[in-house]
Parts: sequence; C-alpha cells; structure tokens
Amino acid sequence: MKTYQFTKSQELFKRAAKVIPCGIYGHFSPAPLVPATSYPFYTARSAGARFWDVDGNEFIDYMCAYGPMILGYNHPLVDQAAAKQIQSSNCTTGAPSVMVELAEFMVDLIPAADWVFFAKNGADVTNYSTMIARDATGRKKIVMIKGGYHGASSWMQAPGHHGTIEEDAENIIRIPWNDVPAFEKAIENNPNDIAGFIATPYHVPVFADNEMPDEGYWKKIEALCRKHGIVLIVDDIRHGFRMDIGGSCEYFGFTPDLICFCKALANGYPISALMGSQALKDVTARVFYTGSYWFQAEPMAAALETLKELKRIDGPKKILATGKKLLDGLVKVAKTYGYDLKVTGAPSMPYLRITNDESLMLHQDWCAECTGRGAYFTSHHNWFVSTAHTDEDIQQTLEIADDAFQIIKQQYGDRF
Ligand SMILES: Cc1ncc(COP(=O)(O)O)c(C=O)c1O
Repeated sequence: MKTYQFTKSQELFKRAAKVIPCGIYGHFSPAPLVPATSYPFYTARSAGARFWDVDGNEFIDYMCAYGPMILGYNHPLVDQAAAKQIQSSNCTTGAPSVMVELAEFMVDLIPAADWVFFAKNGADVTNYSTMIARDATGRKKIVMIKGGYHGASSWMQAPGHHGTIEEDAENIIRIPWNDVPAFEKAIENNPNDIAGFIATPYHVPVFADNEMPDEGYWKKIEALCRKHGIVLIVDDIRHGFRMDIGGSCEYFGFTPDLICFCKALANGYPISALMGSQALKDVTARVFYTGSYWFQAEPMAAALETLKELKRIDGPKKILATGKKLLDGLVKVAKTYGYDLKVTGAPSMPYLRITNDESLMLHQDWCAECTGRGAYFTSHHNWFVSTAHTDEDIQQTLEIADDAFQIIKQQYGDRF
C-alpha cells in the first residue's frame, strides 16, 4: 500500500505562516500531530465519512472535524434544509421563525431541559452557563475538573497559558475527575460561595486515557449540588448526541440544571445551544448575552434537520455499535503483532493508546502510518465516529491498520 505525500499541504502552510499567526491555530494546529509531516493540513473536498486533501489523498475520517460531523459530510437532507432556508432568508433584522421550531423540537428531545438559548460556539454557552449560575446564586466560584476543557475563554484555560492572568483563575476551583471528596472539600472550604459545578459527561483529557464516571459519581455530584444550592452544568459539547439522543445525562442517569451543546448539533453548521431547567428560565432571561450571527437562520434549519435525522435513525445507538465494531477489530489486529491497544471512552468517541510504549512514540508512529495510508487517526485526542462510517470503511481501516502495524514492527522490532 502506498503512503501519501503532502507537498501541497506543506506549501500552503508555508504561505499561511506568513499571514496567519502560527499558520493554523487552535485545535487544527499541526503542533500535536506527530510527526506533522505525516498529516494533511488542508481539505479540498469531503463526502460521507471521507475527505480529500489538497494533494488528492483520500481519508476515512475518524476525527469528523473534531466532532461537528456526525451524519456524514455533505449530508443531503441537512444541506438541502440549509440551502432552502438560505434561499428565503438567513441573517436578517428580526429573529427567524425556524428558531421557534428548533427550540420546540429540542425541548421535546431533551428530557432534562425546559428551554433553549442559541449561540455559535461551544465556549459561548459554557461561558454563559457560568454567568447564569453566578446570577442565580449570587456567588462567585466555579468548580471544574483538572484537565477539563470548556473552550478558549481566559477563565477556562489552564493557569499559566499565554494571554491569561492570575486573576482569570481567581474564582475557579479545579478538582480531580471522579473525586467526590474533593468536591465536598471545595464546598466546605468555600461556604456559600460556589455558584456552579461544570464538567463533561465523562473525562476527555488529551494525551491521556479518557475516564468514565465511577458508579454513582454523577448522582453524588447531583445530590451535593442540590444540597448546597450549586448549579449543575454539564458540558455536552463534545459528547452530545454521540451517547444518547436525549443528551449524555440520560446515558449516565442524572439531571443537570444546564446543558451545553454544540459540535454535532447541526452536522457542521455553526450553532451552539444552552438548555436548562424551568427554575433557571427567568434568571437566564435577565442575563444579557448575544452575538452578531447568533440569529442566523441557516444553521438553525440545519440543526433541526440533523436532530430529526439523528432521532429517526437513533444515531447515537448506531455510532456506538459502529465504534465497537471498529475498536474490536483494531484491538484484534494489534494483538496479532503483540501490541496492547487500550481503548477508553465511549465507542462513538474513543481514545486509543498502545500501552507497550509508555512514551507514546510507538503509538504516534502507528497513527501517522495509518493516516499516511488513508485512515485519519490522531494520537493525542479522542476520535469520533459518524453514522456515515460503513462496514466497508471499517474493513478498509483494519487493512490499513494491519499494514501500519507491520511497518511499526519492522521499525521497533522487539524493543516493545
Ligand atoms: C468539551 C468541550 N467543551 C467546550 C468546547 C469549546 O467549544 P468551541 O471550540 O466551539 O468554543 C469544546 C471544544 O472542543 C469541547 O470539546
């Protein structure tokens, strides 16, 4: 099997680096892709579960745009709904009528929520959720999980990151994941001063195994929040609609006060949503928050169609099953070469790591070899599965993985 060349990607990146800070910033930055020379940087075309880069290389995509793609690229129903909407109106004076239709659909779909507020990015709504929690409680502090990610606003970034100041983290308390006593201690040390607890449904750090909640974890967190008047916020931006159509809190059996959605909500169209309980509706109504493009009708029409389709086909169930098929296959192939491929997280958004080499070098090289043969795998971040991934895609992926393991075995020999 031939390996890909990325000449045009690299040429474009050189041009970009002259006019765009670090060429490609944020989560699309080549920095964590090791070695970066083994990865494409620029996309030319996409369809279903695949994309083609500017060099003409074809990839089965296991990153799904880092989460927004869930029904497959260029999904005809979603794109038609968006196109139809844009032909009549998009960004105008006055809210679009489709906004009401989408809100009604989402309130019916998500059992834990009674209302919805739309924005654009994930950080818009995680940020808003903390403002609502503070206004509702009259308190300052927000408890979050060490290594958790809720967006790029300065208070959410890990302390010490460029551009942030100490005061940004002044009212943030970071506790370890799955550590109920740490939450109890935080409550004890900050009496009547904790406004909100925010966490993802399960823990998704980068460069590390993902961690499910311990048995009873969410119920205990919920009980502590209720007892101490703390607003319970679940950041379902990445996990949302990849575990349960009613939100990941349904999957884990707890009831948050606020739920943040984004990513898969509109299959790639720009929209996020904050949903919440009746008790917080009036507070939310008085906390001012808006944006230039937040009333754009096209992404709302796309979101409505995406959710209808995900519900119709039970998308989360489908991708959990597809992911399982893929992962069982990959673990089996790895074993034939003497490698232990450890899978953590949900099968619809798994994190993988070859445990034989703790330094992750061998794992990074294997992911790069797979990518260079057409199965786009990252080594530092969880992957994503979509409803467009077929059995044929999985079969082809397993063949690519097998070839890549052969190369890795030759390279590392019996060292691992
Ligand atoms: C769990 C989680 N929360 C929040 C965000 C922030 O979303 P956005 O980048 O759209 O602001 C992300 C983005 O990756 C995320 O994964």
